[in-house]
Amino acid sequence: MDDSFLPIVRTVAALRGHLAPWRERRQTIALVPTMGALHEGHMSLIRLARAQADRVVATVFVNPKQFGAGEDFDHYPRDEAADARQLLAEHCDLMYAPAPEEMYPPGFSTAINVSGVSEGLCGAARPHHFGGVATVVAKLLIQAGPDVAIFGEKDYQQLMVIRRLVRDLDLHVEILGAPIARAPDGLALSSRNAYLSAEQRQIAGRLNAVLKEAAAALGRGAQVAGVEADATEALLSAGFASVDYVEARGAADLARLGPGPVDRPTRLLAAAFVGKTRLIDNVAVG
Ligand code: PAJ
Repeated sequence: MDDSFLPIVRTVAALRGHLAPWRERRQTIALVPTMGALHEGHMSLIRLARAQADRVVATVFVNPKQFGAGEDFDHYPRDEAADARQLLAEHCDLMYAPAPEEMYPPGFSTAINVSGVSEGLCGAARPHHFGGVATVVAKLLIQAGPDVAIFGEKDYQQLMVIRRLVRDLDLHVEILGAPIARAPDGLALSSRNAYLSAEQRQIAGRLNAVLKEAAAALGRGAQVAGVEADATEALLSAGFASVDYVEARGAADLARLGPGPVDRPTRLLAAAFVGKTRLIDNVAVG
């Protein structure tokens, strides 16, 4: 492998052309889909991919279909040269960075919608978001045909949507979830953290602390409804402008829980605004 530059392909044909000789040599391929603005969280996925397969392909595509009206599509951070440098440093083999017209040519009319797991939580405030994610991820998996694809638990509901999509459409790929990479104060690394002022960054760090305390209370047998309400209150007191949700759900399927103590493997998930920036996080209970 030539370590001095990272090959970048921009079309489906070029992608398939690049993968073909690897397949002929029976090398396995891991895919890491991203929207770029790469940080240490993404790099932890690349390292996991490296350990899983002979070849690692990262995709960088800011997917217009998963942004709602008034969301940050136009302002989403983009820096392809910096992304390529980081991918090269982690020995990624290929970047696939298609233009929007390559992914969605004129006349594009197909939408994939994964019901159930897409509803509630982030799906409540962002009704078309997971349909956009499912559509682009299905396309990326079909285009690249990897043996394994890696997604972060940072976007826990997204991971569940993708697992369901792959099962339902019989896509021949293993989906691996990667643990959340965090800053020292617990804040989950995110491309959107770049939007935070110094003061907002301080507040943001409380999200994980509040969730950890709430998860510990649930682990001790506290009532779900009370813990969710107390955590919401704690976030508002810490300076969050608003709280979209704090909810305990079944870890395997995001099924709703009763108001009493948790009775199955549980994940506690939250979304809250610091200023205009929407942050998400989640932790395991127990
Ligand atoms: P993006 O937000 O760029 O994230 C790409 C992948 O990195 C996702 O699987 C996400 O869960 C993971 N990730 C981000 N921050 C992480 C962190 N702190 N720790 C661990 N993993 C982290 O998620 C998307 O892009 C898009 O929705 C995409 C799946 C690419 C479809 O467009």
